[in-house]
Amino acid sequence: MSGLANKKILLGVTGGIACYKSAVLLRALQSAGAEVRVVMTPAAQAFVTPLTFQALSGHPVYTELLDPAQEAAMDHISLARWADLVMIAPATADFMARVATGQANDLLATLCLATETQIVLAPAMNRQMWLNSATQDNLQRLIQRGYLCWGPDDGAQACGETGPGRMLEPEALCQLVENYFSPGTLQGVKVLITAGATREPIDPVRYVGNRSSGKMGYAVAESMRDLGAEVTLVSGPTALTSPSKITTIQVETAAEMYSSVMAHVDNCDIFIAVAAVADYRPNHIASNKIKKNKEILALELVKNPDILAEVAAKNDPPFTVGFAAETDQVEQYADEKRRRKQLDMIAANRVGSRVGGFESDQNALLLLWQDGREELPMMEKSYLAQRLAERIAKQFHARN
Ligand code: PMT
Repeated sequence: MSGLANKKILLGVTGGIACYKSAVLLRALQSAGAEVRVVMTPAAQAFVTPLTFQALSGHPVYTELLDPAQEAAMDHISLARWADLVMIAPATADFMARVATGQANDLLATLCLATETQIVLAPAMNRQMWLNSATQDNLQRLIQRGYLCWGPDDGAQACGETGPGRMLEPEALCQLVENYFSPGTLQGVKVLITAGATREPIDPVRYVGNRSSGKMGYAVAESMRDLGAEVTLVSGPTALTSPSKITTIQVETAAEMYSSVMAHVDNCDIFIAVAAVADYRPNHIASNKIKKNKEILALELVKNPDILAEVAAKNDPPFTVGFAAETDQVEQYADEKRRRKQLDMIAANRVGSRVGGFESDQNALLLLWQDGREELPMMEKSYLAQRLAERIAKQFHARN
């Protein structure tokens, strides 16, 4: 592997049990060709000694902000400028809180303030600490400032609990670093994506809708953009802000989404239908607010066009990816949908559970295509979308 040849990575290690994985990550980055320097916080040194990282990296490990010997080797400002990427793995809740508030109370936090380089967080902590709104608020602040967050994974934790908060495995992190430096796998490829729910009006104030927040679709759009694609996002109403460097078209109803997709689809190479489009709409929209003077009010619903099926049935269809939201027999129903609608790929998710699917920040997907399948376990939608985007890019190139 030499995907990281000539790349300089500053690996920041903060104090969590996942520190031992950082040693493996260091080796993986080096094997991929990167030059790595390590900075450790005082808490990290309680888990793994600097000597371990020194022996593995072949370079002194930086630990102190005000140590004349370390500053003589490379002062902290030069170190901040040296790196092509700063990767904090593991990133603890405490460290994220400190950088979110702009503190410079150890060498690593100071470097984060002093660098203009991209900073990536690979969080690792107890699931409750991760889900705590203080941590999530800090994360949002950091993401708004341009930090990337890879992970965490979901699963068994060192504390004995199970849930989100495990640091991603070193191999996965290394792969993401490689993707970061070579985002061009979809360079020049045009991608059209639907996201969010549609609203089907009943009268001027009421509508038929569903629980889709748009989180999954927006994350997919961002991941496709990060692989170099030119992305157009057709979005139902959401509380999300339009992602940067993506053309976002706001629609409300299934009919509007249909028109917008049909207006753009001939110009796209990949179509991904993440939106939860209403299958039916009220046959008549009352022009005035309906009065509540009846004990039973029957709504007559008519079927909406199936946007995904129509795109896939075109003469020269784009590489077409559908989603399937299922409460049971997920694989069977999703695969039936894939065959019936003649899709290149389907991403199936279980909905109706406490975690995953609609509204949740996490999700899990089962990807099915003609001669293959891949299971992506429960994780943050942003990271899940990256894995999905990589798979779509692979299958798209294989088909072409
Ligand atoms: O938005 P979030 O809160 O993050 O939630 C994400 C999600 C659960 C909505 C998403 O992961 C998901 O599953 N999206 C598809 C939801 C859905 O409508 O599934 P379906 O099985 O009913 O539809 C199958 C496919 O046909 C979907 O790709 C859908 O976009 C498409 N479709 C459906 C009906 C229709 N009229 N037109 C369509 O294009």
